[in-house]
Amino acid sequence: MLQQIKTAVLLPWYAISIFTGEKSFRRNPILGSVRLNRRGLHVWRVKLAARIVAWRRQYLEYMISDDDRNAYDANGYIEKRDLLPPDLFAALVTEIENLRVPAREMYEGNAVTRRTPLTPDVVKDNPAIKAFLESKEWTGLIRYIGGFDVEPVISVQTIFAEATPKGKGKDPQTNLHMDTFHSTVKAWFFLYDVPMDEGPFTYVRGSHKLTKRRLAWQKRKSVLSAQNHAGGAFRISPGELKYLHLPEPTAFAVPANTLVVGDTFGFHARGASSRASVRVEIYASQRPNPFLPVVGLDTAALPLVKGRKQVIPWVFEDLAVKLGLGKQKWFSVGRPKPGEPVANGKG
Ligand SMILES: [Fe+2]
Repeated sequence: MLQQIKTAVLLPWYAISIFTGEKSFRRNPILGSVRLNRRGLHVWRVKLAARIVAWRRQYLEYMISDDDRNAYDANGYIEKRDLLPPDLFAALVTEIENLRVPAREMYEGNAVTRRTPLTPDVVKDNPAIKAFLESKEWTGLIRYIGGFDVEPVISVQTIFAEATPKGKGKDPQTNLHMDTFHSTVKAWFFLYDVPMDEGPFTYVRGSHKLTKRRLAWQKRKSVLSAQNHAGGAFRISPGELKYLHLPEPTAFAVPANTLVVGDTFGFHARGASSRASVRVEIYASQRPNPFLPVVGLDTAALPLVKGRKQVIPWVFEDLAVKLGLGKQKWFSVGRPKPGEPVANGKG
């Protein structure tokens, strides 16, 4: 009874959420309705979001070259090797290696993800980092693929793979998956060589395209996820890839100074690491409301938001934990350098 009253009260909110980035089939009885998804609710959202992002991207085409645009259209990602001249790259790596600023870690299976935020007070003391973050190569590709002319969430990310005992379980990021029902962008600028056996990022070429088979797959997945009250980041098996006429994943075992920017509506995963390994990269992501019909509207225009999109959610997370309304996901680990293990963390 209480549940029914709650659902009735929240119904307007659940309905409005159809036009947000909400992807879970668990939290919202409309998005999670088996009947509505059989009738095509999920597929309708997928198609509408795809149409809107394609429309928005037209206004951002000037930010990247024709070659890059063609590469994205064909593959769903853009890879740029030797991005920076050697002297600038060396200066950037030196600054990052010497960062001692507050960082947080998140633990998934036997992997540790550390984020070292590049907030304005960090950037102002590090001219090479500042120049990189303002460079056209970095800002343009992320904005074009993401489909918004807004500042992404930025940090130095360290992945400690196989960092904790095997008993901790598999890193869920190593399963091939799509992030959500619409186009989103993630970018990795690798500061060191990524060996093939140390869990490189993998991406299924062309899997960002909305083909007929993909839509049929999305529909089936949406009904199954509604039945199982699952989340919205669908996994895909090798057999299903074949059904979608998609190739085997491409592994980005790339040299240092390579930038990869990908649309994570496409299928991707962290490759399995055959031994304990550490990867350090400048990392960005961007995920505003996919139904917005404008490319601007950057929350970074609000006071104190610019350069702080990584740390602001942590403030809210801490508050929720204090009020007993949420669990800690990102744990403070002091001021370790990126790539440096910490005693109290698991890295
Ligand atoms: Fe992902």
